[in-house]
Amino acid sequence: MDKTAFFTMPSGLYVVSAAADGLRAGCVINTAVQVTSVPPRISIAVNKDNVTSGVIASAKAFALTVIDQTADMLYIGNFGFRTSSDYDKFAKYETRETALGMPYVPEHAAALFSCRLIDTVDVGTHLLFIGEVEDAERLSSEASLTYDYYHKVLKGKTPPKASSYQG
Ligand SMILES: Cc1cc2nc3c(=O)[nH]c(=O)nc-3n(C[C@H](O)[C@H](O)[C@H](O)COP(=O)(O)O)c2cc1C
Repeated sequence: MDKTAFFTMPSGLYVVSAAADGLRAGCVINTAVQVTSVPPRISIAVNKDNVTSGVIASAKAFALTVIDQTADMLYIGNFGFRTSSDYDKFAKYETRETALGMPYVPEHAAALFSCRLIDTVDVGTHLLFIGEVEDAERLSSEASLTYDYYHKVLKGKTPPKASSYQG
């Protein structure tokens, strides 16, 4: 199999976040997709080992921000290369909450989606969470950060927990 074929699939980059039982968690993902329009629903794939997946399952809700091109590697590193288990990723950023009580960082974000969890599909290493969008908001007029831009301009790497990781 030519695994470089997967690199041709375009995607954006997002931060998905949630809070439950006193724990705030969030991580970078490239696997958010709008799956329906009426009602609006979004799917995300989150690794079972990521702290964020357990918190989403407990919260039965998540916030999803679309990362914009103002994002730097400090921001990506904070959400994409560290784990929420012993570290509060929101501490160094202005943090707001959705109406469902989910934390999100408005900085470096083009848009916000507040989602209620309606279904979870076990796809092996990852859980596919289906969320119904209860609210959506534009946060900046900056261009969205694509995975392609992340690789080519920010020279970013892909960690093992990402769906797109090629070991
Ligand atoms: C560019 C990039 C893309 C990523 N895509 C995904 C993804 O689609 N799904 C996923 O579960 N993790 C993905 N990750 C990895 C998580 O962000 C990473 O494992 C994070 O540290 C998990 O944090 P947590 O343990 O606090 O949940 C990605 C990371 C980066 C940097």
